[in-house]
Amino acid sequence: MKYLLLRVLALILLLSSCSKNQKNNASSDINRKVDSLLNEMTLQEKIGQLNLPSAGDVSTGISTNAGIAKSIKEGKVGGLFNITGIDKIRAVQKVAVEESRLGIPLIIAKDVIHGYKTTFPIPFGLSASWDMELIQQSARIAAEEASSDGIAWTFSPMTDISRDPRWGRVSEGGGEDPYLGGQIAAAMVRGYQGDDLSAENTLLACVKHFALYGASEAGRDYNTVDMSRLRMYNDYFPPYKAAVDAGVGTVMASFNEVDGVPATGNKWLMTKVLREEWGFDGFVVSDYTGVSEMIAHGMGDLQDVSALALNAGVEMDMVSEGFLTTLKKSVEEGKVSEETINNACRLILKAKYQLGLFDDPYKYMDEERASKELFSDENRAVARKAASESMVLLKNDGEALPVNKNAKIALIGPLANNKENMVGTWSVSADIMKSVSIYEGIKEVSENPDNIQYAKGSNLVEDADLEELIGMHGKNTYRDDRPEAEMINEAVELANESDVVVAILGEASESSGESSSRTDISIPDNQVRLLKALKGTGKKVVVVLLSGRPLVLGEILPHSDAILNAWFPGSEAGLALADVLYGDVNPSGKLTMTYPQNVGQIPIYYSHKNTGRPLEGEWFQKFKSNYLDVTNEPQFPFGFGLSYTQFKYDNLKLSSDSLSEDGTINVTVEVSNIGERTGKEVVQLYMRDLVATITRPVKELIGFEKIELKAGETKTVEFSISEKDLAFYHQDMSFYAEPGDFKVFVGSSSEKVLESNFELK
Ligand code: BGC
Repeated sequence: MKYLLLRVLALILLLSSCSKNQKNNASSDINRKVDSLLNEMTLQEKIGQLNLPSAGDVSTGISTNAGIAKSIKEGKVGGLFNITGIDKIRAVQKVAVEESRLGIPLIIAKDVIHGYKTTFPIPFGLSASWDMELIQQSARIAAEEASSDGIAWTFSPMTDISRDPRWGRVSEGGGEDPYLGGQIAAAMVRGYQGDDLSAENTLLACVKHFALYGASEAGRDYNTVDMSRLRMYNDYFPPYKAAVDAGVGTVMASFNEVDGVPATGNKWLMTKVLREEWGFDGFVVSDYTGVSEMIAHGMGDLQDVSALALNAGVEMDMVSEGFLTTLKKSVEEGKVSEETINNACRLILKAKYQLGLFDDPYKYMDEERASKELFSDENRAVARKAASESMVLLKNDGEALPVNKNAKIALIGPLANNKENMVGTWSVSADIMKSVSIYEGIKEVSENPDNIQYAKGSNLVEDADLEELIGMHGKNTYRDDRPEAEMINEAVELANESDVVVAILGEASESSGESSSRTDISIPDNQVRLLKALKGTGKKVVVVLLSGRPLVLGEILPHSDAILNAWFPGSEAGLALADVLYGDVNPSGKLTMTYPQNVGQIPIYYSHKNTGRPLEGEWFQKFKSNYLDVTNEPQFPFGFGLSYTQFKYDNLKLSSDSLSEDGTINVTVEVSNIGERTGKEVVQLYMRDLVATITRPVKELIGFEKIELKAGETKTVEFSISEKDLAFYHQDMSFYAEPGDFKVFVGSSSEKVLESNFELK
């Protein structure tokens, strides 16, 4: 028996060393090929590989781009993005392969952010599922679809931590927490890249926007960022690093400055941190016109900023064409070395080899696979599940939810009968008219579609000009020109005839996302007036929120019986929402950003520092850290979300009250479903370092597990804590845990927890 075990072990070791050897051989083979190709290339051709123009299907800034085919032929294009459709992509690839001197294939990119044709909830929504397998699966499906339709490279995941809901781009990320953000980033990279980049159904991923983009001052997009290095390393860097650790192939530089230098030209960031400290070995692309934007940042003219970016460690210039038009001159003038250009070009060619583009430049153009993959029933079923798992139940008085499938529903709201806005922001590949509207979805899942009656009730906002701004990218909001009173009366009449009112309130798809920052994130007054009138009927009122960010909900809380945050649920929106409203799915989402009571509390986040004058006990206390006009509490804390059942936490136990340097402590807790339905719960593990040489947050998430419990069932959930979970960066940037006393918390949100103590020896 012992002999057999030894032989099995030897075989395993042999196989793993064979696969390591194969990988090493493949990479040295690629390096050889890249070097020999580089030897054949002129300086201009090398510079051409660093150029990533937009083909112009979508534009997020000012891009001038004529005569793409001519540039490709001349070897001036390394990749293209914003080009859609196999025919078009094949045509440009053919020019590159057959008509340029060296026949180097293009790398075709696209913003595949939360799905391709099948659209999943916006990333912020998806993060609320706390379900890493599901998140990975959503990226996998996006990769399967996009890679069949011509795309090789996606500009995702976006992992910018943000603690400011005014910033519109919180919709694209995973919220405020570094640990959770890191888990999501890694899951997405695994989903896109799989374990074989050369497979025809995987995509090269791109973690963005490196770095700190989510910390723009006042939540205004593209604004300045100024942050201590300690905060960068401890709070904002971890998700990017997690993506790098997961093997992400590319990184996108952010628009903002970092420590006084724009990220795109920041050598400390791109070379010291990213490559030297983290060991990143892929390539870095600028974000859109990030290179030429450094002129406005005050870093010099186009030649200066292009040299700055390249020398900093940015290898590919998206859109600006600064590399293309100035680097040769900079080499001649000694501002950039040819070796730096060689190194940049080498990394881009390496990625193309890794993807297998040199073996088959047309590998991602597969009509047959596309016809099976795109928007398939199987993929849509996963999107429906992901959407329902992401929804967060914020309030449910008197068990207003779930609704009986025979109930007469008055379905009211500016986007209740709208397809275009269901997919949310950054869904450039979606066929938006194929999404299931809320009206359609509820009718389909109900037992009697005639029981569902719809009225718009109000416009999104009173201001028609503002509504026009947020109807961008074809996402029409169908403004109604009738007087407000008439629309409200119609809705109230329907409400009077119904058993329950379902009011769909909140934002439009493009009220969040890029360049969609807001200073007022409360529910617009006209929607509040509608809600009050509906509540005035005496019927139960269920509010469903569509939003790409945390909203300020104080005005609507008293006028609703239940509130369900549905985000922008994706292509299966109406069906997924109906699943939750009718109780076929028990909501289990938990917030990944703190909800403020008002805008003045921003930035507000659970893992704040204690200060020297923390408020303990009653608000208000003079000379303590608090406001005169509002308590310190959030409206809803990080990690919060209700269920149609209730969970009880008991018996928090630690396997020991001391942790040695290389040991572990097991933390167990009993979680019971004490309600009447099966439900899922996200069990959250937090810690606090009580004494250290730098101040530490009052709570930090270090683990979580999503479990399912039947009614009456109890499960023991186990976590293990080791020294690395307690480590943090110090003033000298060393990373280790400090011995001393710690608190450990386990619970259903960042506020509702059981707690215990241990000591790190
Ligand atoms: C955005 C990026 C995006 C890029 C390419 C930029 O404006 O900031 O997130 O990937 O455009 O479309």
